[in-house]
Amino acid sequence: MGQELNQYKKAIEQSNIVSKTDIDGIITFVNDEFCKISGYSEKELIGKNHNIVRHPDVPKSDFKLLWDTILSKKTFKTTAKNMSKNGSTFYVNTTIAPILDKNGDIQEFIAIRYDVTSNIMLTEALKNKEEELSLLNSMLEKRIQEQTRKLRMLNQNLEKRITKEAEKNREKDRLMFQQARLAAMGETIGNIAHQWRQPLSELGIVIFTMKKCSAKGDKKEIQKQYDHAKKVIARMSKTIEDFRNFFNPVKDKNNFFVKDVIDEVLSILEGSLSKAAINVNIKIDEDITAYGYKNELSQAILNIVINAKDALSHKPADEREIKINSKYEDGFVLISIADNAGGIDNEVMDKIFEPYFTTKHASSGTGLGLYIVKMIIENSMNGAMCVKNQDGGANFIIKIPIQGSNNGTERT
Ligand SMILES: Nc1ncnc2c1ncn2[C@@H]1O[C@H](COP(=O)(O)OP(=O)(O)OP(=O)(O)O)[C@@H](O)[C@H]1O
Ligand SMILES: [Mg+2]
Repeated sequence: MGQELNQYKKAIEQSNIVSKTDIDGIITFVNDEFCKISGYSEKELIGKNHNIVRHPDVPKSDFKLLWDTILSKKTFKTTAKNMSKNGSTFYVNTTIAPILDKNGDIQEFIAIRYDVTSNIMLTEALKNKEEELSLLNSMLEKRIQEQTRKLRMLNQNLEKRITKEAEKNREKDRLMFQQARLAAMGETIGNIAHQWRQPLSELGIVIFTMKKCSAKGDKKEIQKQYDHAKKVIARMSKTIEDFRNFFNPVKDKNNFFVKDVIDEVLSILEGSLSKAAINVNIKIDEDITAYGYKNELSQAILNIVINAKDALSHKPADEREIKINSKYEDGFVLISIADNAGGIDNEVMDKIFEPYFTTKHASSGTGLGLYIVKMIIENSMNGAMCVKNQDGGANFIIKIPIQGSNNGTERT
C-alpha cells in the first residue's frame, strides 16, 4: 500500500504543480514543476509565505475566501492569477486541500495545480480581438452612416439640380410654343383679313344703300338693310371668336370628332389655301373620334398643312393638292396629311422634327413647326408621329388613341 501511494505521489508530482504549506501558509514543500513555473528555486521557496507568488491584481477578498474555506477543512478550487519571480503572470487551475491528522486537526495544506496560462491568454487575446472588432465595427458603422449622409445630401442636391434643369427645359418649351403660336397667329391674321374682306364690302354696300333710302325716306328698306348689317357683323365677330377659341389652350383631355378638328383647321386656313389655289381633298368618316387635347391637335395639323402649302408653292397652280384621310387601325386613330409637292429630301428627313431646323428663308420659317407637332402628338396626346415620301409628295401620319367608344363625344 505504501509503495502504491508513492507511485500516486510521483504521478501527481510529475503531471502537476504541487506545493505544501503549514497551517500558517509557510511553504514546506514544492515540486520541480512549481519551481519551473514560478522561477524560484526550491531553496528560495521553502520557509517563505506562499503569498510569494501572489499577483498584485488579485483582490484581498479572494484570499479571505480561500482561508475561510480551507480552515474550515474544506477543499478550495479556483483559477488563480500568480506572478513569477521575473514579474510575468501565470494562471493555474488550483485545488487546495487541508491534510488532517489522526485527530482530525489540520496538519498542513497541499495545493495541486495545472498550468492554464496559454488558455487564459488565448481567451484574453480573443476577448481583446473581439473588442477591437466591435470597435472597428462601430467605426465602420459610423463611417457608413457618414457616407450615407453625404450620399443623401448629394442625392438631394442632384434632385434639386434635376428639378431646376427640368424647370429650365419646361421654360424653353413654353417659349418655343409661344414663338410657334405667334408665328401661327401671324398667318391667321392674314386669314381673318381675308375672311373679312367679303363682309366688309357687304357692309360698305349696306351703308351706301341706307344713305340712299334715308334720302328717300324708305323706312322699310332701312330696317331691312339694318337687319342685314347686324347679321354680317355677327358673322365677322364669329370669325374672331373661332380664331380665339383655336388659340386658347384647353386644359382637359376629351373625346372629340376628328372631322371637326380638320374642318376647324381648314376654316382657319381657308383664305390662304384658296389664295394658293390648293385643292384640299378630305376623306374622313364623320364618326371617327379620338381622345386628347383637341386644340393642340388642331395646332399640330395646322402646322403640317401650312408646311404642305409652303412646299406646294413650287408646283404649277393647277396641280396643287392636299389629301387628308383618317381611319381606325389597331386601336388607334390614324390621320394622314399628304401633299404632292415632291416630298422631303433624304438628307434632311432625319432632321425635320428637330427644333429650329428649317430649309426656309429666316424670315419665313423658324423651324419650330414640326418640333411642336411631334411634342403635341407624342407627349401631350400619347400618340406617335411619322413621315414618308409617297405619291410624289410628303405624307405625315399622326397616330393617337381612340379611348373607348364615342360615348360622351358631342359636336360643339
Ligand atoms: N410637306 C413638306 N414637304 C416638303 N418639305 C417639308 C414639308 N414639311 C416640312 N418640310 C421640311 O421640314 C422643315 C421643317 O419644318 P418645320 O415646320 O419644322 O419648320 P419650318 O416650316 O421650316 O418653319 P416654321 O417654324 O415656320 O414651321 C421645313 O423647313 C421643310 O424643309
Ligand atoms: Mg412649318
